[in-house]
Amino acid sequence: MLKPEDNELLTATGPDTPMGALFRQYWIPALLAEELPEDDCPPVRVKLLGERLLAFRDSQGRYGLIDEFCAHRGVSLWFGRNEESGIRCPYHGWKFDYTGQCVAIPSEPYEKESNLCSKIKLTGYPLIKLGDVLWTYMGDPSSQPELPEYEWVRVPPEQTFTSKRWQESNWLQALEGGIDSSHVSWLHSDGLKNDPLFKGAQGNKYNLADRKPFFEVVESDGGLFIGVRRNAEEGHYYWRITPWVMPGFTQVPPRGDHPVHGHFWVPIDDENCWVFTFDYHPVRPLSSDEVQAMKDGHGVHNEYVPGTYRPLQNKDNDYMMDREAQQRGDTYSGVKGIAMQDASLQESMGPIVDRSKEKLVSTDTGIIMARQKLKKAALALRDEGTTPPGVDPSHHKVRSAAVVLPTDQAFLEGAGEALTVQPGVPQASV
Ligand code: FES
Ligand SMILES: [Fe+2]
Repeated sequence: MLKPEDNELLTATGPDTPMGALFRQYWIPALLAEELPEDDCPPVRVKLLGERLLAFRDSQGRYGLIDEFCAHRGVSLWFGRNEESGIRCPYHGWKFDYTGQCVAIPSEPYEKESNLCSKIKLTGYPLIKLGDVLWTYMGDPSSQPELPEYEWVRVPPEQTFTSKRWQESNWLQALEGGIDSSHVSWLHSDGLKNDPLFKGAQGNKYNLADRKPFFEVVESDGGLFIGVRRNAEEGHYYWRITPWVMPGFTQVPPRGDHPVHGHFWVPIDDENCWVFTFDYHPVRPLSSDEVQAMKDGHGVHNEYVPGTYRPLQNKDNDYMMDREAQQRGDTYSGVKGIAMQDASLQESMGPIVDRSKEKLVSTDTGIIMARQKLKKAALALRDEGTTPPGVDPSHHKVRSAAVVLPTDQAFLEGAGEALTVQPGVPQASV
């Protein structure tokens, strides 16, 4: 349970809020690289942390993320002409470069004499490509951190795949699904048996057999390791360990030799978020069958309304809920696909769930600790200027793991180095 003021603190990420300031300490995914496929291609509207921005790629291949609206009289630059190293407003021809600097005011007779142009600059944020993702940093330029080191964007391109989807809820209730491992044995029970990117792993049978998992959560440099224990063979436990790196990175524990998947949850505004969803393999290329399955919406990916990043199953069509499939047991909830099973239920709570009415239990331990860490970090930043966990790129070098350990061994000790990125070493997986 959260007091209403704490719920507000954790869910509001606009420019003048404590969580908004926290998010502005980090590099965060802004859009997929595929959205700006070539120099001078059409610009893309991007809303992040409540700010309306425009992403474009100029004639020299430089990426820019600038205020969506023209400094002159507020026209959306999405209508602009992306040409000759800048975006030109179609109303009176003012032009802005990839940093947001005004570089031409051709409509003004005395522009040269007054040097007006050099005094006008739109808000502009850095935008860089790492992996399949364009990342931005929306904070104070003087404290811009080193680039992210998440393994999924650092392995060779043939070993990684990223998609994104729009989720119609606040970012926190989406993130909370990512650190709540207990729902998997229920909501996703069909996926464990049938999904091409999940099925066949030895670990699945422990997941399905023991539906009362025990949670043990340990702090890490960047966030948490959420250990979830289920019964395995006599004298052993099956542990699934999920790292959360602040603010929005979670990685699902692996299954067999399947690629490892995970998410980065990013606020669009207080009632919507982007879910960047990845799959990668630490030591081998993804097979063409695996990539095809991801593109077809299997695993933790989804299908789309054509030409958009909105899921094909969405709240306007009740997520194509199939009551007969639910009754037959083909799916547990009646909704098809792991991603949309999660999204349907998280959106069903309303855009910002009222956490003062919750009844939290032991399987919510990860969620409780994550909220505490977020609150503590946001207040320490506001009151003392303390840099939060997860900004330092060394904090990103974590892995999820699935291991079987003797019952008397702590998961942190038993999993050991498997929870750290080790180049050339496969994931620890059952
Ligand atoms: S509104 Fe953009 S140039 Fe006038
Ligand atoms: Fe889920």
